[in-house]
Amino acid sequence: MATQMHEKKKLHFIIVGGSLGGLAAGLALKAIGHDTTILERNPTPVLEEQGAGIVAGGDTLQFFKKYNRCDRPIAVTSHRRQYLDRDGNVVHKEDMEQNMTSWDLAYFLMRANYDGINSEHCKAPSPEATDGMAIHLHDHNVTEIKEDGQGVRVFWKTSRGEEGSIVGDIIIGADGPSSTVRKLLQPGVERAYAGYCALRGTIREDSISEATRETFSERFTFFHCRGVQILAYLIPGRNGSVDRGQRLINFVYYTNFPEGSPELEEIMTDKHGKRRLITMPPGMTDPNAWEKQRQVARERLPQPFAEIVCGTKTPFVQAVTDVISPTNEYLNGKVVLIGDSLAGFRPHTVASTSQAAFDAMIFADYIEGKVSKEKWKKETMGFARYIQKRGVDMGNRSQHEDLPLEEHIHDRNVASTPREKEVYPDWATAI
Ligand SMILES: Cc1cc2nc3c(=O)[nH]c(=O)nc-3n(C[C@H](O)[C@H](O)[C@H](O)COP(=O)(O)OP(=O)(O)OC[C@H]3O[C@@H](n4cnc5c(N)ncnc54)[C@H](O)[C@@H]3O)c2cc1C
Ligand SMILES: *[C@@H]1O[C@H](CO)[C@@H](O)[C@H](O)[C@H]1NC(C)=O
Ligand SMILES: *[C@@H]1O[C@H](CO)[C@@H](O)[C@H](O)[C@H]1NC(C)=O
Ligand SMILES: *[C@@H]1O[C@H](CO)[C@@H](O)[C@H](O)[C@H]1NC(C)=O
Ligand SMILES: *[C@@H]1O[C@H](CO)[C@@H](O)[C@H](O)[C@H]1NC(C)=O
Repeated sequence: MATQMHEKKKLHFIIVGGSLGGLAAGLALKAIGHDTTILERNPTPVLEEQGAGIVAGGDTLQFFKKYNRCDRPIAVTSHRRQYLDRDGNVVHKEDMEQNMTSWDLAYFLMRANYDGINSEHCKAPSPEATDGMAIHLHDHNVTEIKEDGQGVRVFWKTSRGEEGSIVGDIIIGADGPSSTVRKLLQPGVERAYAGYCALRGTIREDSISEATRETFSERFTFFHCRGVQILAYLIPGRNGSVDRGQRLINFVYYTNFPEGSPELEEIMTDKHGKRRLITMPPGMTDPNAWEKQRQVARERLPQPFAEIVCGTKTPFVQAVTDVISPTNEYLNGKVVLIGDSLAGFRPHTVASTSQAAFDAMIFADYIEGKVSKEKWKKETMGFARYIQKRGVDMGNRSQHEDLPLEEHIHDRNVASTPREKEVYPDWATAI
């Protein structure tokens, strides 16, 4: 198989996972004429709208530029970074342009371009004659993978207990940080809790005080104190609207919840008493637990941040975790991991969506014969290992050390290095 890859044979890729990583791979491969089938375990045809924010880094923008044929804005631009003190004064600012999008806008743009799904966010463009087949199957939970002649067979089951399988030439594991594909081929890789959570939410910019709206308007705003960091930025609102007043303020509020502590159990137990392992979805937080967090927010955050945290109606919680696979390629290249299934970054890196976009683009280039196998692997593994480690360092420094503000600013500026300018150390690119 691996040796035939660069011939003009039409391949069939089975992509496990239909979030941003799986859709990115599907788009990049169908654009060079290959057939793709996405298997997504979610029982409904489209993933639940989360509406939370994504900092659209270089590779994410590059990806949309290359593959998005919907004519509409994809982001809200922030023009400045600023840091507040406890009293809400701006203590540091720097001009810097960054584009911020929402998870649901990115998702619906990709679905429109991949398999022609129309939504309030965008009308699907007409397909290109040269595109490969693009099939999206929801309610397909992948449970097993087996080599089958020249290809690989993927086994799935549905929520109604139906079972089946499908054969492809190459399987792409885009099934996230708790990847089943990775577990099957590389057992023993653990996803570990990092000792803190991100409390997250959004609030419409027209539902807060004018002073607070002014503070956050088109700026990327931060506050740090011991064991805490919070940041906020504007993202597209309902149906992806970027109109003033319709946009949302998105916040990410990191706070420590030691492993095994009653505080962690409390925040991760939902309103029906179920302990959520990693993600507490929007609207499921226990009202008493959230009320406690609102109280804490009022005590320790600058007023504008306290206002948006306390005003959000459907907060959600993500336990911050670490996970990385030692390699991205199994069964002699017949199974490949991309995005979060390869390396689950801490959110401080603002690189998860960019990693998925980059992994998809460079893999398609390799399949097309535009980059060598060695370059594909080194670039993909370098990104995964180096940025994964950066996230651990940044997170540990901000949550577990007591640093002067300049150090936080420095860390964050390092994290904004464009990928082309990163110099990966040898340990990161070893293959
Ligand atoms: C619903 C959702 C909302 C998100 N919201 C945000 C956000 O607001 N901001 C942000 O920065 N990041 C968000 N993320 C994370 C962000 O999407 C990812 O970092 C990025 O898309 C790259 O991850 P990925 O596609 O590789 O993996 P993920 O996004 O984790 O997606 C993995 C997908 O694989 C599916 N899957 C898992 N196991 C199986 C299996 N056995 N069979 C079939 N399918 C399977 C999952 O249902 C999921 O859809 C969100 C992810 C999800 C799934
Ligand atoms: C942000 O998006 C705008 C509009 O698409 C684009 O012109 C600009 O270059 C982007 N900025 C950055 C820093 O990527
Ligand atoms: C998918 O299958 C696994 C393994 O059988 C099971 O643990 C999990 O709950 C299933 N998930 C969904 C969403 O059906
Ligand atoms: C978004 O779409 C919904 C459903 O069609 C519609 O009712 C609503 O008016 C739209 N909202 C905005 C802000 O455009
Ligand atoms: C980061 O913190 C975790 C958890 O506290 C710890 O296990 C790990 O060794 C730390 N890593 C670094 C690079 O400081």
